[in-house]
Amino acid sequence: MTGQKLAPSILSADFARLGDEVTTITPEADLLHVDVMDGHFVPNLTIGPPVVASLRRHTDLFLDCHLMIDNPGDLLADFADAGADRCIVHVELGDPRPLFDDLRARDVQVGLAVSPETPFDAAAPYLRDIDLLLIMSVHPGWGGQAFITEVLDKVRAARQAIDADQLPVEIEIDGGVHTATASLAASAGVDILVAGSAIFGAPDPLAAARALREAAWPTAA
Ligand code: DX5
Ligand code: ZN
Repeated sequence: MTGQKLAPSILSADFARLGDEVTTITPEADLLHVDVMDGHFVPNLTIGPPVVASLRRHTDLFLDCHLMIDNPGDLLADFADAGADRCIVHVELGDPRPLFDDLRARDVQVGLAVSPETPFDAAAPYLRDIDLLLIMSVHPGWGGQAFITEVLDKVRAARQAIDADQLPVEIEIDGGVHTATASLAASAGVDILVAGSAIFGAPDPLAAARALREAAWPTAA
């Protein structure tokens, strides 16, 4: 799988103007990152399948749904029906294989997320079953936190394991991505950068997205 993708996270968008925010960022978005939080797995509470369905009607962008919820198994059908292209579930919940089977049966791509304190070894047994490994570089729950540099070792370990077996798995990093950390993450082998506040918190989101991309993967002069 080829990397060098940017995934704006709508968590930092203005939800009252969500459609317009998505339209604005579309020229620089390879996919759209949708953070789903339930007030249990993480203290914060955000959005669910109805908003995904609204986004689906509004955009053709790939909808990458990051499920920070205790009971993903109860909701995968709703996300699939809403038009999610991929659902990312957290390895900390326990054996994710039944969730993977459910997603495959619904023709939805499979992602697995690891929180900062979770070692790569927890995700390693599932690399052959997934399309995407999401490495959290902040504690899940909020935008605008500082990048945890130590997770770059996990990125390098994942890159090595995926390349060694030529697995079709992309590595996504999520949290605290701005121009300096985008460059570090790309050098460590990340394929997809998620960025919320660095894009939607900027006065010119499109220019901010371009700057992130250039910082991560400089184009030849
Ligand atoms: C945090 C979310 C992230 C969040 C990142 O739990 O998973 O996707 O949007 O926000 P920034 O880019 O502001 O750190
Ligand atoms: Zn996320």
